[in-house]
Amino acid sequence: MSLRGYRDSDMPFVAAIVAEALHEHYEPSLYGSLSAEWPQGFLIAADARDVPVGFLLGVNQVEREARVLMFAVDRNHRMQGVGALLMDAFLLRCRDRGYRRTTLEVRVSNATAIRFYTRYQYSVIDLLRAYYSDGENGYQMARDL
Ligand SMILES: CC(C)(COP(=O)(O)OP(=O)(O)OC[C@H]1O[C@@H](n2cnc3c(N)ncnc32)[C@H](O)[C@@H]1OP(=O)(O)O)[C@@H](O)C(=O)NCCC(=O)NCCS
Repeated sequence: MSLRGYRDSDMPFVAAIVAEALHEHYEPSLYGSLSAEWPQGFLIAADARDVPVGFLLGVNQVEREARVLMFAVDRNHRMQGVGALLMDAFLLRCRDRGYRRTTLEVRVSNATAIRFYTRYQYSVIDLLRAYYSDGENGYQMARDL
């Protein structure tokens, strides 16, 4: 498994992971434009054939803060440390930039992700009512750096 930055040719692979894991569809151009804003914040985990199997897309919308906008690993590659590789590298890059904290949102029903984030010392700071388009509540979680 290798970690690298996002390339335009990754778009269909990233979109497929998003569709399956996050049940969302985003404009394909979103990935390229967010990558241009903070290239080091968009991490791709690729297999031996350089095909993306997971990614973490971070953005910087609040001063000295990073927000994890999307984070997912392909179903067949979960529980093998890919998520940890991505999150470890992301937190390092945030510290390199002098950020004070990172935030994210997660569905209240997503026990797997909440457990993962809790292990990474994220904690719930807010309940976001009807945050998701299907009406589900979200938690906002944060971690100081
Ligand atoms: C959350 C997610 C990215 C984690 O990725 P992953 O590659 O499976 O995570 P890792 O294999 O690196 O797991 C890291 C640790 O969390 C634990 N963990 C991960 N998934 C777990 C699960 N379902 N149950 C229990 N522990 C779990 C692992 O045991 C591992 O612990 P270890 O380091 O002691 O072995 C992945 O489950 C995913 O893509 N989920 C669907 C999309 C999603 O929900 N994204 C978050 C939206 S906010």
